[in-house]
Amino acid sequence: MTHDRHSYAEPALVRTTHLALDLALDFSAKVLSGTATHTLAWSGPGDRLVLDTRDLTILAVEGAGGAGGEWEPLEYSLAVPDAELGSALTIRTKQHERVRVSYRTAPTATGLQWLEPSMTAGGMMPFMFSQSQAIHARSWVPVQDTPSVRFGYAAHVTAPPELMVLMSADNGTTSHRSGSYDVVMPEPIPSYLLAIAAGDLVFEPIGDRAGVWAEPEMAKRAATEFCDTEEMMRVTEALFGPYRWGRYDILVLPPSFPYGGMENPRMTFATPTVVIGDKSLVSVVAHELAHSWSGNLVTQDSWDDIWLNEGFTSYVENRIVEAVYGHELAVMETAIKQHATVVKLDPLPAAQQAVELPGLNHRSQYHGTTGLGPLKGAWFLAWLEERFTREIFDPFLRGYFDRFAFRSINTDDFVGHLQEQLLDKHPGLVRPAELAAWLDEPGIPAFAERAVSARFEIVDELRERWLATGEVPAGAKHWTTQEWLRFLDAAPDVLTAAQLQQLDREFDLTGTANGEIARRWYAIVAASNYTPAYEELANFLTRVGRMKLVLPVYKALAATESGHTFATDVFTAARPNYHPITTAAVQRVLGS
Ligand code: BES
Ligand code: ZN
Repeated sequence: MTHDRHSYAEPALVRTTHLALDLALDFSAKVLSGTATHTLAWSGPGDRLVLDTRDLTILAVEGAGGAGGEWEPLEYSLAVPDAELGSALTIRTKQHERVRVSYRTAPTATGLQWLEPSMTAGGMMPFMFSQSQAIHARSWVPVQDTPSVRFGYAAHVTAPPELMVLMSADNGTTSHRSGSYDVVMPEPIPSYLLAIAAGDLVFEPIGDRAGVWAEPEMAKRAATEFCDTEEMMRVTEALFGPYRWGRYDILVLPPSFPYGGMENPRMTFATPTVVIGDKSLVSVVAHELAHSWSGNLVTQDSWDDIWLNEGFTSYVENRIVEAVYGHELAVMETAIKQHATVVKLDPLPAAQQAVELPGLNHRSQYHGTTGLGPLKGAWFLAWLEERFTREIFDPFLRGYFDRFAFRSINTDDFVGHLQEQLLDKHPGLVRPAELAAWLDEPGIPAFAERAVSARFEIVDELRERWLATGEVPAGAKHWTTQEWLRFLDAAPDVLTAAQLQQLDREFDLTGTANGEIARRWYAIVAASNYTPAYEELANFLTRVGRMKLVLPVYKALAATESGHTFATDVFTAARPNYHPITTAAVQRVLGS
């Protein structure tokens, strides 16, 4: 087991095996309050239980012995908060079997967002949701907030009676509202998969096992956009083994949701920015569904090994996209991700490259979350697949999920399994130096082949001709989203007003409903100081709070003095709509 430097918990001494939550949602105070009852397994001498908390008010702590034992008050202390990790809650126990913490959250809890009715599609009812990954569960539940500890949970939640409450658990499929809800997650999960949401939510089925939860305005459109979800489940099961979580539902959140998607078990949380009517961005669903195997079933045991979650998921996502939508789209999506990496790395000196993209064995949280680490991991797996052929590689990967199911592991566990189940069984196919290039050396190995998309070669040609002659790219009116992403990704950072105007006249890019196109287009608009598009750019930054979409635009604006001033004004107006983590990220970009 790896030591998790992002948690104060001491799982070598004691672990939560079950968590019972009894919570009340208070929208006027923006506070969640109640009790968290931990069932504990002690594995050594010692008398203290350390839980992670952040900005929690602890009201009481009690302990009970064996089943049916009386509750007794326990002594506890809350440490001075660390800015990143929060406050350790240290509880004196006599190795009690159960410990119950009474607490309430702060209105500023980093893992929760409380939305005014005006920030929802319906505009009438308030909304709240959690985002626990990576280390925000501790801001709404006192818990051993490390992915190395897994527990099942049960929750009783009360809320205003007009609101539906959902969790990462067995919510059922009826949106009957009572203001009192009971759910169970029977499988052992890590704390970062604890999730809750409440709002004016209705259910729309997709198939027998899959459905959508969303505000009434959005539910039908989302179910249509995500109508292939059930097929995605079937193809993944055929490749990598059974889906072990019962139902798979997608909760479509308001636009302030800071991510594209979050793989909360049984209930993926998703951005509404992918519901655009043409299914062109549904690989986000493939990605979050893939986490039901890579991440939720087999979990990295500390954030330093996040490539085990995100790299494997990116690989599985691509296999799902290929199986459901075909090879051409899968290759285009791989090429887009690879292009982003190569472009980021190429201009950097070797020493900096080593920091940006170290070997997969070289653990650092940083390399996991930048998007580069997952890509390197996915690239490594695709390379292994190619070396060994799918006939051998696919059963190997399936065996990995089976062997480590419902466990938290580190890179050594994977590499050991790889050696034993793939390399030793099929000797001579991979040289040690090649393996070392992926695992120990920085950057992308020179021998790794880039994805080649014939369609992108055409896009590249048309772009270069347009740049040289001003000739409008032929056929671009019918390009797929991915072809547009390629066109913009490999375009110069700065274009002339005439060029931008021409593209807008022909293709209406300003004001696009497609967030992936928008974030690239507005980044060029900002870098080029193309003010005719600034009003729509500002609308975009105000309407959407997904970090991946807004940050590149803020970054491009912040690079010039006038852009920085404009960005600061837009941020002031948009900020009430942003999630706390988006706000913090934009502040970093703007240097405020
Ligand atoms: N689990 C991640 C989101 C995440 C990562 C939250 C790290 C907090 C810390 C999720 O599965 C994810 O990768 N989302 C992507 C989707 C995309 C890669 C298809 C996103 O939000 O853009
Ligand atoms: Zn992911």
